[in-house]
Amino acid sequence: MKYKQRIQSLLTNQIPSNLLEYLPSSYSVTGDIAIFHKLPKQLENYKQLIGQTTIGLDPRVNVVIEQITTETIFRKPVINLISGEKRTTTIHHEFHTIFNIDVAEITFSPGNKSERERLLHLVQDNEVIIDMFACIGNLSLPIAVNKPEVTVYGIEINRKAYGYLIKNIQANKVEKRYIPIFGDNRLRTPENKASRVLMGCFNVDQKQFYKAVNAIHKEGWIHYHSTAPRNENEQLEKFVEKMQKILSFKIQLLSTRRVKKFSPRLYHLCTDIYIEKL
Ligand SMILES: C[S@@+](CC[C@H](N)C(=O)[O-])C[C@H]1O[C@@H](n2cnc3c(N)ncnc32)[C@H](O)[C@@H]1O
Repeated sequence: MKYKQRIQSLLTNQIPSNLLEYLPSSYSVTGDIAIFHKLPKQLENYKQLIGQTTIGLDPRVNVVIEQITTETIFRKPVINLISGEKRTTTIHHEFHTIFNIDVAEITFSPGNKSERERLLHLVQDNEVIIDMFACIGNLSLPIAVNKPEVTVYGIEINRKAYGYLIKNIQANKVEKRYIPIFGDNRLRTPENKASRVLMGCFNVDQKQFYKAVNAIHKEGWIHYHSTAPRNENEQLEKFVEKMQKILSFKIQLLSTRRVKKFSPRLYHLCTDIYIEKL
C-alpha cells in the first residue's frame, strides 16, 4: 500500500476527515531522518502526529523534520523538527560512501542520486576530478570511494559544509586522494588539472564557468547543472559564445538530461560539455 493510503487509514479517526486529502504522499530519508517538504497549512496542528505515525510505519526513521525552503548561496535549509529524537545530525550511507550530515545546515538532495550514480559509471581510472561546489562531498565523495585510482579536488565556501567535508573524507579513508579546498571557487579552483569538472550548483556566473573551462587539462568534461522549463540552456549558450571569443578552446554542448523535477515549472538539468584546448 502506498504511504499516503497507509497514513490516511491510520489517521482516519484522529484528524478531521476533510483534512485527510492534505496528508503528504511522500517524504525523503537521509540517514535516519525523514524529511517532508513544507506540509500544507491545513495540517499545522497535526504535524507531530504525522511525524510520530511515520516513525511507527518506517523502521528506518527515528527523527522527522519539515523543510520549508533553502536560503542563500549556501542553500541552508530552513526546517522544523516535528517528531522523534531531538537532533538534526545523522549518518547517511549511499554507494558505499559514509556521509555525516546536519540536515539543519546542509541540503543533500535525494533527487540527485541518479546523477551521483551516473558519475560513477562515467568516470574512468586515473581521472582528476574538480568539484567546484563540493558541499559535504555529495557528488564527488562516492567517486573517490568507488574509484581507487581517481584524485578529487573539492572546493567549498561554507565553513560548516567544509567541516563536514573534512569529516567525511576521513570517515571514508580517502585523505590521500580527496583534496579539500576552503573558499570561493572563483579564486581557488586549480588550473589545467582536471579531466572532469563538476558544477553542481544553479545560477553560476561567467567567471565560475571560465574557471571551470580553465581547470581542464588539455581535454575533458564539464557537468553543468541548471534549471529551466525544458531541456534548454540560454545562459550557458551565452557563456560559451563569450568564452569562444577570448579562448582558443573548442567547447561543445553534447547533451542535456533531466535530473529531477525542481518545481512545478522547472526541471533540474545537467549538461555535459566537452572541452578541447587547441
Ligand atoms: C546546492 S549545494 C550542491 C551540492 C552538490 N554539488 C550537489 O549537487 O548535490 C551548493 C554548494 O556549493 C557551495 N558554494 C556556493 N557558492 C560557492 C563558491 N563560490 N565557491 C565554493 N563553493 C560554493 C555552497 O556552500 C553549497 O555547499
